[in-house]
Amino acid sequence: MTLRGKHIIVGVTGSIAAYKSALLVRELVKAGAEVRVVMTPSACEFITPLTLATLSQADVVLDMFPQDRAKGTWHIHLGVWADLLIIAPASANTIAKLAHGMADNALTSLALAVRCPLMVAPAMDTDMYVHVATQANIDVLRRRGAAIIEPESGELASGLVGPGRLPDMPVIMEAVTAHFAARAGDLAGLAVLITAGPTQEAIDPVRYIGNRSSGKMGFAVAEAAARRGAAVTLVAGPVSQPTPDGVERIDVSSAGEMHAAVMERAASQDICVLAAAVADFTPEAPAEQKIKKSADNDAGLHIALKRTPDILRSLGERKGESVLIGFALETENERVNAERKLREKNADMIVLNNPRIEGAGFGGDTNVATLIHADGRAEELQVMAKSALADIILDRALAIRSLRTE
Ligand code: CTP
Repeated sequence: MTLRGKHIIVGVTGSIAAYKSALLVRELVKAGAEVRVVMTPSACEFITPLTLATLSQADVVLDMFPQDRAKGTWHIHLGVWADLLIIAPASANTIAKLAHGMADNALTSLALAVRCPLMVAPAMDTDMYVHVATQANIDVLRRRGAAIIEPESGELASGLVGPGRLPDMPVIMEAVTAHFAARAGDLAGLAVLITAGPTQEAIDPVRYIGNRSSGKMGFAVAEAAARRGAAVTLVAGPVSQPTPDGVERIDVSSAGEMHAAVMERAASQDICVLAAAVADFTPEAPAEQKIKKSADNDAGLHIALKRTPDILRSLGERKGESVLIGFALETENERVNAERKLREKNADMIVLNNPRIEGAGFGGDTNVATLIHADGRAEELQVMAKSALADIILDRALAIRSLRTE
């Protein structure tokens, strides 16, 4: 019963392999999962909803607009309920719709509403599978963080031979169980502190100096650390991200407040990940009243700035056994600057971003990072979802910690 208590949605699309979804539902239920099935209209041409309703012991979702109008927000409820959405088999058509965020049937609408990870098992004729359009769409899903269960090569329903066959059930079940087992609980017993988002430095009561950080990267690390069992403290600048489950969030505004909140809690942390884009300068003397236009400032306004406390440096000075990870956003001499930062601030690793590379930087859901290690190694990572990068950062933090405590 490796999947006991897990809530899994099986999405079924119009592919000759749709009959295998019955086996998948049966295996998932046998492994202890609670299963709901959502079918596209074409899927019903290949397998009957009655079969899947019987095996999943629940009504199958078929319609965008159910007869019972009170249930019109079913996709939102199901989206919150699910721990995993697996679309198997996934047709070329559904993959294309997912890649473009279309919501024209029950399954594609649900795929936009779910908050859980997505697994996609493409199954189609070889020529459709290898077509550049399909491959590009699969790549979009992969970059967005979806797990792709690669099709197998073999004889297809058309008689052609090549890749496109839905893998046998043990392969799909292995992917599902590995997904839930991966890294589960490996941070249990550890305290992890994360900073995220921008800071706002007051110029007067209504104006501030800020930056474009969305906080997504730091929040992704907090979410991953909590999922992996850590006690997580997230010190967040002003952002509009939802607080991940199980995370203690402390909202701050300025660099000074962030510094104070972090230092208060630093001694008890095992891992600190400083992803916040902290302002380096703050107005020396913020005006008490809103600054008005006047004859005095007709020629322009000069605001004197002073340096803010450097949180990463302060932690580096007293880090003891804890693991300290910083970020660097560089647009030139990236490696050299990041290595200098690592040494000067006594960090164990720097996550280096170059916002000019496509897929990296502020606001987006993906990032392209190079991990700079204390021993001089530079690990260049591919473009990936911020959630996937978050897990890699925590993997490296754990590895550094185990070397240190050996
Ligand atoms: N940082 C911090 N406190 C500050 C400034 C930065 O903790 N007052 C942390 C950031 O969270 C990040 C790293 O230090 O982990 C970034 O270093 P920083 O030197 O600020 O980088 P940049 O601003 O990108 O660099 P610089 O101004 O030195 O080019």
